[in-house]
Amino acid sequence: MKIAFVASEAYPFVKTGGLADVSYSLPRELARRGHDVRLFLPRYYRIDKRNFRLALVHAPLGVPLGFGEKWAALYESPHAHPVRTYFIEHDAYFGRDGLYDDGYSAYADNPERFTFFCRAVFQAMKAFEFRPDIIHCNDWQTGLVPVYRKTHYASDPDFAGAATVMTVHNVGYQGVFHKDNLFWTQLGWDLFTVDGLEYYDQINFLKGGILLADAVTTVSRRYAQEIQSEEFGYNLAPEFRKIRERLHGITNGVDYEKWNPATDPRIPKTYSASSIAGKTECKLHLQHRMGITVDRGIPLMGIISRLTYQKGTDVLAESLFTAMRTDPFQFVVLGSGDEGTIQKFEHLRATFPGRVGLFWGHDEDLAHLVEAGIDLFIMPSRYEPCGLNQMYSLKYGSVPIVRATGGLDDTVVDWDEAHATGTGFKFSELTHESVCAAISRAIAVYWNAAAWKKLQQNAMKFSYSWGDAVIEYERLYSSLAGPAKNRSADRRP
Ligand code: ADP
Ligand code: GLC
Repeated sequence: MKIAFVASEAYPFVKTGGLADVSYSLPRELARRGHDVRLFLPRYYRIDKRNFRLALVHAPLGVPLGFGEKWAALYESPHAHPVRTYFIEHDAYFGRDGLYDDGYSAYADNPERFTFFCRAVFQAMKAFEFRPDIIHCNDWQTGLVPVYRKTHYASDPDFAGAATVMTVHNVGYQGVFHKDNLFWTQLGWDLFTVDGLEYYDQINFLKGGILLADAVTTVSRRYAQEIQSEEFGYNLAPEFRKIRERLHGITNGVDYEKWNPATDPRIPKTYSASSIAGKTECKLHLQHRMGITVDRGIPLMGIISRLTYQKGTDVLAESLFTAMRTDPFQFVVLGSGDEGTIQKFEHLRATFPGRVGLFWGHDEDLAHLVEAGIDLFIMPSRYEPCGLNQMYSLKYGSVPIVRATGGLDDTVVDWDEAHATGTGFKFSELTHESVCAAISRAIAVYWNAAAWKKLQQNAMKFSYSWGDAVIEYERLYSSLAGPAKNRSADRRP
């Protein structure tokens, strides 16, 4: 099949979170299975042209926008071979430091920037005569693509066979803007309705994508259920319920070429389930690197995360003041985000000298060392569409402690001492009591060498790769391919 994969970030070019991991691995797996996959990304300033060998393939590329047209340049990189990766360049929109914000607030021209990106993807496909069977979109930044497919490009023969799939990685981010921004899209006000882009008198890119895509997926089964409820749906629950026949939960896979302690070139000593000694060396390295007491015996817990409301790291930081008093363990954080949470962790470090290691910023290499060096990984998320780190942690024998929500609930099995089954620890409520209780439970098992060994072995046996996940996407694509069967109707302006 010919598949256009559209995303606002992809490893190794540019990454702020799990979306980038998925946008690298899923297209790659599809391409390996013989599909012709083209990945489309904005060419942000931070994507180094020389490093990634970007070659100009088309310019100028006309992109209709607002009252007229803007000009883009289209580059291609061979770096993610066998996926052909295209970059849409327009400096006024993407030639700046951040992807979506300046570190404090979202860019005011985001609606214009991502309207441009969505439109440019169609123009690019036309420019090099790529006629996709599937256009796979990801998150709100690409939400207008399914809308355009059903409007401006509804009768374009180049896209006659193209079905759209909208993957929702996080309902907490929807791309909601003042309705005047409809101007940039060149869409008619007839789409500004409850069945279209309208959302509390504003426009909502994700809503448009969900309602007009031929199929909608999200990144775990549990989350696909959760978002149909008011608690998790962020005001889009009625829309998800409306389209539930074409809503699918497909759990993200793990890229074990990148995340495997047996082969990981980024860790000081490789190890595996059958030969785990190297993990201790990684732990000692990590303790040294994080400036905490180097001690192989003490349990070391950690987290790698965006520090946002979603991740529950605010509650975690507070709970640790109690937990670290109750149990002897160390804690490391690799993260970036909310300043208030950072301050809480800084205070924690000052309160427990030698026991708390903090690194603020994004560091891919350190993420691998943390995964390898810790004994326990904690994810107390308020909601978690899928979550990748708990799956990486399983592979690295770093037992996950997770809140039972979304993909965390789907991928971690609670430890059952009596039967010696399970791969981690789960808790339900995001309260200090529950977090502390889960930590105490985990630490108690840590001190029981036989139980811990079994638990760690169980965890390391967990395997769910992109090779597994891709089968479900292929099945979905096949059900959509061909004549416009099972598809929602065109919505010309
Ligand atoms: P989300 O996409 O919601 O942030 P995921 O668990 O799906 O959560 O994916 C997070 C990804 O980002 C993982 O690959 C994780 O290792 C990485 N990550 C998060 N914060 C950092 C950081 N500060 N430095 C390096 N990698 C990070
Ligand atoms: C989002 C979600 C995360 C998921 C990732 C990749 O950022 O927060 O749970 O794993 O997307 O799908």
